[in-house]
Amino acid sequence: MARITASVYTSHVPAIGAALDLGKSGEDYWKPVFAGYDFGKEWIKEQKPDVIFLVYNDHATAFSLDLIPTFALGTGASFTPADEGWGPRPVPMVHGHPELAAHIAQSVIQDDFDLTLVNKMEVDHGLTVPLSLMFGQPEAWPCKVIPFAVNVVQYPVPSGRRCFQIGQAIRKAVESFDEDLNVQIWGTGGMSHQLQGPRAGLINREWDNRFLDRLIADPADLSTMPHIDYVREAGSEGIELVMWLIARGAMADVAGGAQPTVKQRFYHVPASNTAVGHLILENN
Ligand code: DHB
Ligand code: FE
Repeated sequence: MARITASVYTSHVPAIGAALDLGKSGEDYWKPVFAGYDFGKEWIKEQKPDVIFLVYNDHATAFSLDLIPTFALGTGASFTPADEGWGPRPVPMVHGHPELAAHIAQSVIQDDFDLTLVNKMEVDHGLTVPLSLMFGQPEAWPCKVIPFAVNVVQYPVPSGRRCFQIGQAIRKAVESFDEDLNVQIWGTGGMSHQLQGPRAGLINREWDNRFLDRLIADPADLSTMPHIDYVREAGSEGIELVMWLIARGAMADVAGGAQPTVKQRFYHVPASNTAVGHLILENN
């Protein structure tokens, strides 16, 4: 059977992608950011996941005010890196896993979560920057990636509770797929940041670190936090953090299994206009 072996959490700051693409990752400003991912890069080489179920948000790239799916599952065979205004990032094509994605669609929708299915979609920095952080700059991504796009851009956004519940349904779906696959689930976006308005530049270290503590130790309690608390404390774009609850909800302990092991925890300020957070939890 397919198994969810670990969850990875990371910010997706576009300037991190640009720093890599433009050969600036060795500069003094960026060195401490990339150093936080040295462990994860080695760890994932040993883990060799077959598939990453990558929870991220689109930033008005594939979707727009014309069409606003709350939860969009990428069921296609491949997904092209998008041009976000400076040409597409020089990163490999993303290859999906249509069979597993179709199985997840069947299971999660029959579990009463109304997903949007997307067979064709371009993917923006929300998806490609986390891949770059964990895999560096390979010729091809070393595994399949199922994109799962969550609307955290246009209100109303889904609640943390809903995200935590859908994570549990995704776990059930993956672990009932009849093929031996090592599957990781990633939660991306965050941490505290606000990109516009009078509070642009807002960063809240204390709140971010408390969020990491609670995500590790008591995600069910964290999932009850209302969206307005994210926005007030972590800035308007801090709401991206609800996506981390999807990955956390898919871990074994939430379904009555053992507590995960914290393999990596990293926090750094600043990276462009935001705080960077990164966590790796491994199932036991
Ligand atoms: C920026 C954009 C993002 O989508 C994000 O999550 C963090 C920062 C930016 O433009 O700096
Ligand atoms: Fe973002």
